[in-house]
Amino acid sequence: MQKILILDFGGQYNQLIARRVRENHVYCEVHPCSMPIGEIRRYDPIGIIFTGGPRSVYDFDAPNADTEIFRLGIPILGICYGCQLMAWALGGKVSPAQTDGAREYGKTNARFDRSCRLFSELPEESVVWMSHGDYIAELPEGFAVCATSAACPSVAVCDEEHGFYGVQFHPEVNHTAYGREMLRQFLFSVCGAAGDWTMSDYRQKAVAEIRERVGGGKVLLALSGGVDSSVAAALLSEAVGSQLICVFVDHGLLRLNEAEEVRAAFSNRSLQLISVSAKERFLRRLSGVTEPEQKRRIIGEEFIRVFEEEAKKVGAVDFLAQGTIYPDVIESGAGNAAVIKSHHNVGGLPDCVEFREILEPLRMLFKDEVRQLGMALGLPEALVMRQPFPGPGLAIRIIGEVTEEKLNILRQADAIFREEISLGGLQGSVNQYFAALTNMRSVGVMGDARSYDYAVALRAVTTEDFMTADWAHLPYEVMDRASNRIVNEVSGVNRVLYDITGKPPATVEYE
Ligand code: XMP
Repeated sequence: MQKILILDFGGQYNQLIARRVRENHVYCEVHPCSMPIGEIRRYDPIGIIFTGGPRSVYDFDAPNADTEIFRLGIPILGICYGCQLMAWALGGKVSPAQTDGAREYGKTNARFDRSCRLFSELPEESVVWMSHGDYIAELPEGFAVCATSAACPSVAVCDEEHGFYGVQFHPEVNHTAYGREMLRQFLFSVCGAAGDWTMSDYRQKAVAEIRERVGGGKVLLALSGGVDSSVAAALLSEAVGSQLICVFVDHGLLRLNEAEEVRAAFSNRSLQLISVSAKERFLRRLSGVTEPEQKRRIIGEEFIRVFEEEAKKVGAVDFLAQGTIYPDVIESGAGNAAVIKSHHNVGGLPDCVEFREILEPLRMLFKDEVRQLGMALGLPEALVMRQPFPGPGLAIRIIGEVTEEKLNILRQADAIFREEISLGGLQGSVNQYFAALTNMRSVGVMGDARSYDYAVALRAVTTEDFMTADWAHLPYEVMDRASNRIVNEVSGVNRVLYDITGKPPATVEYE
């Protein structure tokens, strides 16, 4: 299998670079820039990409790569910091752009030399996205300038004989008009990629690897019904069949019919499915609790406790499987961001179960690739394409205390809203949509009588990464139908509100 190696120098867009490469059906992985040269040789990539990064090459502790890398005979594309590092490591001079006036942030017009292989398919001039404080003041031997801008004399440099290319800008972001084409040129024209990596290759390879690793062992997986754990379960069951034991904890905080759908999706597979109905114990522990973080903590703890009890019944297992996906892996190094909400995922389980090794069969896949794999494995589309649903479930969509009555109201209202979004053909254009139950009751009039009932809030957002989000401008007809149906069909609700707040300042969920 042809592979591209992406060496991480601390850039913000590393995941995006990996995505762009994989979009071309070329497999790639992101590794730390400190990856030893022997390992790089063994990895045997057809091309290497150096990412950007926040440092300057002349900082005393700036991230570096072994200079032996330039003698491997493998093409290298350096992006931003990666470009400066390559130039500096090969004997060029890198200077602070501030003093020379060559510093650029944001969109810039650049002129390209189309005789360079990276730019041969592009117009001579186009917009690129710059974000650099340093620039290449003197070229290393064998290099030539192949793009310039008004402020920067070396927007891109290359040594075509050795297959070394460096760009000051970020071709991976959408603001660079022809960035995708440039990356394609690097992959196909420079590195000779075939672009033949497919999900069925991944599936076959993953199944073979799992079989080899697991042998006759027992594998335990916490199945939440979310996309990742469901696809992991389907893949593992294809590989090891009844040696896989899945524990599905129904905490009673799922959406309408969700628990049945999850059980049905796995009923005809050869895995062992332990389905635990734990609604009462969750509700008991949540009784009287209104503080959002406390709710999350209780649900997280109780989940682990139930899982642990079931795991004890199963006995010692050889492998604990998890649906970890690639963005979790890439991001796990970051950890400096402030905790806004303590996300509850099944990720924190290992300490409470006796097991020998961890299996993470999806750890190299992006979300959309996980979905493709799920479809290839025959999971129902509704499960594979479902929108994100938080681990603590409806509990964080009910403001204040969670009760059975409120759960019933919310389940019905939410099902109606989701149905109307789908009847309006909007599932593809809105990334997450749901109903929440406010803790506000207000006066209304229904059938000439006074009512004093709950207000339901509808939330629909568009977003790329869920870190920021815009409220979705839904058609009025859809909101109108949803609102009418909710007040007519769900008793206990007399008012429907639409949330028109973005993230920030709000979050997607209510608690
Ligand atoms: P917020 O509310 O933080 O949500 O803006 C961003 C995205 O994360 C989802 N979310 C969670 N997912 N466990 C999860 O697995 C959680 O505890 C959790 N809290 C929020 C939320 O649905 C949205 O997609």
